[in-house]
Amino acid sequence: MIRALGVKKSFEKQHVLKGVSLDVRDNETMVILGPSGQGKTVFIKTLVRLMEPDEGVIEYDGVDILKLKDRQLQEFRKNIAFVFQNSALFDFLNVRENMALYLRMHRAFREEEIEERIVDALRVVGLQEEVLDKFPEELSGGMKKRVAIARAIVKEPRYLFYDEPTTGLDRRNSQLVSELIGMLKKEIRVTSVVVTHDILLMREVSDRVALLKDGAIFSIGTKEELSPETLNYLYETGDE
Ligand SMILES: Nc1ncnc2c1ncn2[C@@H]1O[C@H](COP(=O)(O)OP(=O)(O)O)[C@@H](O)[C@H]1O
Ligand SMILES: [Mg+2]
Repeated sequence: MIRALGVKKSFEKQHVLKGVSLDVRDNETMVILGPSGQGKTVFIKTLVRLMEPDEGVIEYDGVDILKLKDRQLQEFRKNIAFVFQNSALFDFLNVRENMALYLRMHRAFREEEIEERIVDALRVVGLQEEVLDKFPEELSGGMKKRVAIARAIVKEPRYLFYDEPTTGLDRRNSQLVSELIGMLKKEIRVTSVVVTHDILLMREVSDRVALLKDGAIFSIGTKEELSPETLNYLYETGDE
């Protein structure tokens, strides 16, 4: 279980997170919903300590990761994978090298085994071996996103974090991303946190939804429990 307690983060005088508290249960898909500029990216980054909060506690199964030293933090990071909004593939590496990076650095696999794992992960996201030698710039937005998700899968994480996974994708690719998020929850029993302002995505993948507003969690519950006021607020922001 992930537990955030009173997480605060400011940039100079701008108080972005004013005390965010949230529990994410094992094997749950928690969607954090909110219009842009509300601090969703800042929050999801603090959850994995890609960004240090000013105050607060971030616990995984009772261990406060903000207190971990470098070595322990590295060990903890083996359990997590992060799918960035822009896919964050290295432009100068082909798909094979992008995907092999983690396995080469942290696991003692033979080359054949690395190749096998990469191909398996690509199959999961519906891509064929042809993409292995392609560079990111040769891929469509939807394919890049799938490679980014496949790269997360090869790590066999316990926790998966997605920042705006459908932004910039057409409906068909968005649908595919939704299906992948649902499938990974079932197949590898991953615990997922999805940050988005895409209400369709939220409907498709969420076990629970937390609404981030004015630097705090405004409401939390299942999608059925979202109040009409909450949804109105989201639609009325005119965000996409
Ligand atoms: N590294 C940073 N330095 C300064 N301000 C930042 C930084 N990261 C985010 N912010 C500010 O924090 C606010 C929330 O940003 P963000 O988390 O990206 O919003 P969201 O993901 O909900 O669209 C924005 O006003 C943004 O400008
Ligand atoms: Mg963001």
